[in-house]
Amino acid sequence: DWSMPSFVDEAVERIRAQVGTDEVILGLSGGVDSSVAAALIHKAIGDQLTCVFVDHGLLRFKEGEQVMETFAKHLGVRVVHVNATEEFMGQLKGVTDPEAKRKIIGKAFVDVFQREAGMRANAKWLAQGTIYPDVIESAGAKTGKATSIKSHHNVGGLPDTLNLKLLEPLRDLFKDEVRKLGVELGLDPEMVYRHPFPGPGLGVRILGEVKAEYAEILQRADAVFIEELRNTKATAKDAAAELCTEEQIGKSWYDLTSQAFAVFLPVKSVGVMGDGRTYEYVVAIRAVQTQDFMTAHWAHLPYSLLGRISNRIINEVKGVNRVVYDVSGKPPATIEWE
Ligand code: XMP
Repeated sequence: DWSMPSFVDEAVERIRAQVGTDEVILGLSGGVDSSVAAALIHKAIGDQLTCVFVDHGLLRFKEGEQVMETFAKHLGVRVVHVNATEEFMGQLKGVTDPEAKRKIIGKAFVDVFQREAGMRANAKWLAQGTIYPDVIESAGAKTGKATSIKSHHNVGGLPDTLNLKLLEPLRDLFKDEVRKLGVELGLDPEMVYRHPFPGPGLGVRILGEVKAEYAEILQRADAVFIEELRNTKATAKDAAAELCTEEQIGKSWYDLTSQAFAVFLPVKSVGVMGDGRTYEYVVAIRAVQTQDFMTAHWAHLPYSLLGRISNRIINEVKGVNRVVYDVSGKPPATIEWE
């Protein structure tokens, strides 16, 4: 009979037996898997673990601070915070092709991590938050069965060059098990049950060339959108309008959607404010419902919620005077815009 507390005890024992007194290094991304792996390994070996958090400046609003708050301050994990924003922005300058952007971000991530890892010459192990579906997917990739048309980056390729042994304590777990484990280990449920976030981050949500100025606008718009989704619960009226089922009444629209985010469009449109005209950027918002992310429907959010989101973004985010809602399904559109 499998239970989470006994899984934790066994995993802790296994990690201790595996690494002995060696030092372990882990790339913290802010995502659920690497976060849970860090919390678990820290529980097992404490200060023998060093996490390297590479901040590429393309994370969610205030996410860098939150990662440090959770791990360094709250859990007492040793975390090296590398602010690599300028390095990433520099390499992305002038690049507009989506796949080229992904490759640059993936490679810069590996370079920065490798540099930091190299400075911790004592480390013998590289820990990763690989979960069971990743194991399956990469097995598929080796036999040419990968169906992904986008290069989904992670820290693959590191072990060879760094000459480290791999520690992957989540290899046998499905995502829902990883989430339960995270809560068991004391991570904030709100963080553990977050929507997925792509590795290249806002790099693929800023269409075309990535600029720090655009990233800041997008982070703020996205934060407003997500806050409204979290704070707005489905009502009986929504159920009557067939926007949700009776059982879903009382749940937040964040929980009723699978993924939701803002997209920065490098396009200016005319608006009016007071006596004057404005000429500012457009932000698109997208919310989808899906089981497997291979196909997806756009979410039928209540008009009142969409209206509030639009008003707040335009009023609170400098540089934006128009908000549009994406009503495209996958296929033929993808979930991300790039
Ligand atoms: P698409 O846009 O292909 O997205 O419909 C399907 C799911 O994959 C995520 N996604 C990515 N995740 N690196 C990632 O780690 C990427 O380059 C990437 N591109 C898309 C997307 O957020 C959605 O959940």
